[in-house]
Amino acid sequence: MVKTMTAALKIPHFGYCDEVDLTQLVLLRSELKGLAEARGVRLSYMPFFVKGSHNIGLAMDTPQGLLVPSVKNVQALSVFEIAAELNRLQALGSAGQLGPADLTGGTFTLSNVGSIGGTYAKPVILPPEVAIGALGKIQVLPRFNSCAELVKAHIMSVSWSADHRVIDGATMSRFSNLWCSYLEQPSSMVLDLK
Ligand code: COA
Repeated sequence: MVKTMTAALKIPHFGYCDEVDLTQLVLLRSELKGLAEARGVRLSYMPFFVKGSHNIGLAMDTPQGLLVPSVKNVQALSVFEIAAELNRLQALGSAGQLGPADLTGGTFTLSNVGSIGGTYAKPVILPPEVAIGALGKIQVLPRFNSCAELVKAHIMSVSWSADHRVIDGATMSRFSNLWCSYLEQPSSMVLDLK
């Protein structure tokens, strides 16, 4: 941890935060949670957040402290398969049994600090990766819809940090917009399944 974080702080970080309306995702997950449970897998929100094209490292709070195992090649996995893999990594993490194969090879990290609490963060990049995202707690908040009506929305903030030597703010903004758009309209992910 000391070596990695000292190396990480040599990276010129820039931060970028936004909020994402997860109302439709909350509904979708409530429909799928029972189906996944019947197949022996606990389905949280993380498998939806992870569904990209990378080996996604997941910051994990374990009895041994912070560990970052990764789900490999998420682009080739369904949301259910990501959930099953996350369940496996969580069980190994709790038992202190995560090995080098699971703890190496990450290309991008997500830190769901919102599962403990908090809204915004300033996450530190895990070198040699070039970006990381911290997810806040999903909160029910008042928002206006496209018809200017006040609605109850499930809002989550996301705080990205990126290495400004290789990524500029506009690139991060376009990526964040795309990632948020998938989660705000989760049915759009079905189009690109597997
Ligand atoms: N907002 C609201 N609810 C959340 C949430 C969020 N951001 N994240 C998780 N939850 C809910 C889950 O949906 C689940 O609810 P359910 O019983 O209705 O399914 C419950 O909280 C517990 O989820 P959890 O066991 O934490 O699973 P997960 O897949 O969401 O997260 C880990 C898995 C490994 C990321 C998480 O357990 C963890 O360790 N988080 C801490 C990360 C950390 O330490 N970051 C700091 C690094 S510097």
